[in-house]
Amino acid sequence: MNPETIPPADAGATNTSAAATRAATTGAGDGDVLLRVENLVKYFPIQSGQLIPRRKDFVHAVDDVSLEVRRGKTLGLVGETGSGKSTLARCVARLYDITSGRIVFDGHDISTISARKMRPFRRDIQMIFQDPYGSLNPRRRVGSIIGDPFAIHHTASGAERRRRVQHLMELVGLNPEHYNRFPAEFSGGQRQRIGVARALAFTPKLIVCDEPVSALDVSIQAQIINLLADLQSELGLTYIFIAHDLSVVRHVSDSVAVMYLGKLTEQAPVEELWAHPRHPASGSSWSGTCRRRSTRRRAAGSTRAVPRPARPASMRCPI
Ligand SMILES: Nc1ncnc2c1ncn2[C@@H]1O[C@H](COP(=O)(O)OP(=O)(O)OP(=O)(O)O)[C@@H](O)[C@H]1O
Ligand SMILES: [Mg+2]
Repeated sequence: MNPETIPPADAGATNTSAAATRAATTGAGDGDVLLRVENLVKYFPIQSGQLIPRRKDFVHAVDDVSLEVRRGKTLGLVGETGSGKSTLARCVARLYDITSGRIVFDGHDISTISARKMRPFRRDIQMIFQDPYGSLNPRRRVGSIIGDPFAIHHTASGAERRRRVQHLMELVGLNPEHYNRFPAEFSGGQRQRIGVARALAFTPKLIVCDEPVSALDVSIQAQIINLLADLQSELGLTYIFIAHDLSVVRHVSDSVAVMYLGKLTEQAPVEELWAHPRHPASGSSWSGTCRRRSTRRRAAGSTRAVPRPARPASMRCPI
């Protein structure tokens, strides 16, 4: 996660066509690729007509995306709102069934396997969500929230579960004596630490962080990012890190993939993309420019539609 140690051009995510080419081969030379996504498609059906459904349309949330994530590295995933980042993340974690394509995790094709067969992989692929308030049940004690994975997978109970939960709390910088407290008794940053502790229960191979610091104060953001970086070097974790803030992504990622209207527009090592963005959506000033323009348009009363994945024909370069 350190920008000082930029990996070679093929580390982290690699170029789409290269990944597709490799996908066409037998898989030889996979090396330390932990996750390979090939031509992933996720469409959501939209029904038009309220009483009598007339036309079935689709939101092209993720459209033919291919990428690779290498073991122990961080792939940053950026893109404007609605570009399909969270949908891609949820498909990778198999929280959504995919429309088509392939997801190969740790050498296993998990694209369409049943919930039962997916169970062991659920331990290895964890998610950390944006909202440290909404993602924790306010009525449950923190010890029991962090201990959920042990209960679900029947791996530890009673005193053993408590010992393991307190170890996790220590690992993420929480006081283990606060085991019996409720989420409301913690600050925003501490609540996000609770989410991180829960995700770490089985030392997963891949953690998908969906905007894990967006809801936090800047000073707290740095603490959580440093925590994730420390855990990565300590436990050899691999991250997909989704964020809007390009400076955060630049800081944490080895390589970056940019999404626009469900498609992957560009993938490159972080400093290369930062210095020479090929697509306007990758420009470091792009999101700011775009936001300013749409704000100006709205202020001027413009009703011009913004590009959206339900109308892929409208896909165009935003600049
Ligand atoms: N369950 C769903 N049903 C229908 N459409 C959906 C569903 N989930 C997402 N979408 C649509 O898919 C597109 C991609 O959404 P997604 O949440 O993946 O974007 P995102 O890049 O994560 O955006 P943000 O940065 O705002 O979090 C959007 O147009 C969204 O409206
Ligand atoms: Mg999202």
